[in-house]
Amino acid sequence: METTLKFIEENKERFLEELKDYLRIPSISAKEENKKDMLKCAQFVVSKLKDAGIKKTKIYKTKLHPIVYGEWLGAKGAPTVLIYGHYDVQPPEPLGLWKTPPFEPDIRDGKIYARGANDNKGQNFVHIKSIESQMKTLGKLPVNVKFIIEGEEEVGSESLTEFIKEHKAMLKCDAVLISDTSLYAEGVPTINYGLRGLTYMEVEVQGPNRDLHSGSFGGAIANPINELAKMIAKLHDKNGKVTIPNFYKDVVKISKKEKENIKALKFSDKKFAKEYGVRELQGEKGYSTLERLWVRPTLDCNGIYGGYTGEGAKTVLPAKATAKISMRLVPNQDPQKIAKEFTKYVKAIAPKSVKVNVKQMHGGHPIAFSLDDKAIQAGANAVGKAFDKKTVFTREGGSIPIVVDFKNVLKAPVVLMGLGLDTDDIHSPNEHFNVDSFFKGIYSSVYFMTEFAKAK
Ligand code: BES
Ligand code: MN
Repeated sequence: METTLKFIEENKERFLEELKDYLRIPSISAKEENKKDMLKCAQFVVSKLKDAGIKKTKIYKTKLHPIVYGEWLGAKGAPTVLIYGHYDVQPPEPLGLWKTPPFEPDIRDGKIYARGANDNKGQNFVHIKSIESQMKTLGKLPVNVKFIIEGEEEVGSESLTEFIKEHKAMLKCDAVLISDTSLYAEGVPTINYGLRGLTYMEVEVQGPNRDLHSGSFGGAIANPINELAKMIAKLHDKNGKVTIPNFYKDVVKISKKEKENIKALKFSDKKFAKEYGVRELQGEKGYSTLERLWVRPTLDCNGIYGGYTGEGAKTVLPAKATAKISMRLVPNQDPQKIAKEFTKYVKAIAPKSVKVNVKQMHGGHPIAFSLDDKAIQAGANAVGKAFDKKTVFTREGGSIPIVVDFKNVLKAPVVLMGLGLDTDDIHSPNEHFNVDSFFKGIYSSVYFMTEFAKAK
């Protein structure tokens, strides 16, 4: 162990330089024009796995983006850890708001800035460097290790969903280890034990058969933007509850113990509001902010468009308006059932003067884990050691849909060892990752393997 820790200490600069190389590849899964970069990035990951001593690697071609697999199974009788991450990133737009270009990593104030710095290249590279540090100092690992680094997380993980079912035997493991979530606060070791699910819908409202003059027709023919806005307003009541029938029907009430755990985190509403530049918070009546974010389902408009949005003014009564609406789900809500209820309700509240078309986009199931699992306990001990503080347990408002497949198909516990911060601006301009968290993550990963080897 000592030699491994010393190796990490001595190689910090090089690890950071290599992370920069990873971040320079514009692996944007949503864009056709970056298809070649996706393969290049998968090859980069393979080369780093090989450098780390993972001799057996393979790039699996899929319908969309390649999946990287790697394994080292030299720890006879020891448990097997499957490490999951994603090498794809979100589109970087709007480009004008980046202080330095998204694919030219820059270190300022102890943070590394680039698209993917946190989500998820910085966080998955931690585990590759942990393996390298152990292999180069000890020639072996305390556990068997398998790697799955995919390229479609940001677009729904469709290929990996199939892949897990098809390669169930190859992926067999005793625990899945994922760093793709957040620390509770800077420097606070955290294990996440829940993720919200997602149902994402598109609502298209069609008015007249063509754009019309808003003077000659306004007041007589329904305006699809007006009608869509009214419909969206009807999706919440005055207490912040979602009005869709049966929306809360399957929601599991949290236990007293969990309520107390959340309360003990002493979340500051004031600090939170200030950080994001709002005067006041809002949400479902009767719940605290963390409860609203972690254990209650929500509905949000993610985008709305229609009519004239260009420069100056144009008087027009548009033919069409569209909204993209997401619902974050909690156990035991079912994304398909919620999509059906949403569609039925939106159609029911639509006036006869417009036609409404509702489409379902990608989604995912919510999940929550028991804290009693040995793997989760080993994770908590490991981060506690690396950050030298008491570990806290949190849930996440965000989603990683593939986690449910790991749990259901592989029947393995999942350790969410989040290392990012909610203030890291993921999916937004100037995404960044604390350099210190990157290194503490490497130590956490090393400690986890030692702890988990003892746990079996
Ligand atoms: N790393 C995030 C999940 C996440 C978000 C963790 C916020 C912690 C805080 C992941 O890459 C992500 O963005 N997931 C998407 C899933 C969607 C594309 C199906 C999400 O939550 O919107
Ligand atoms: Mn993401």
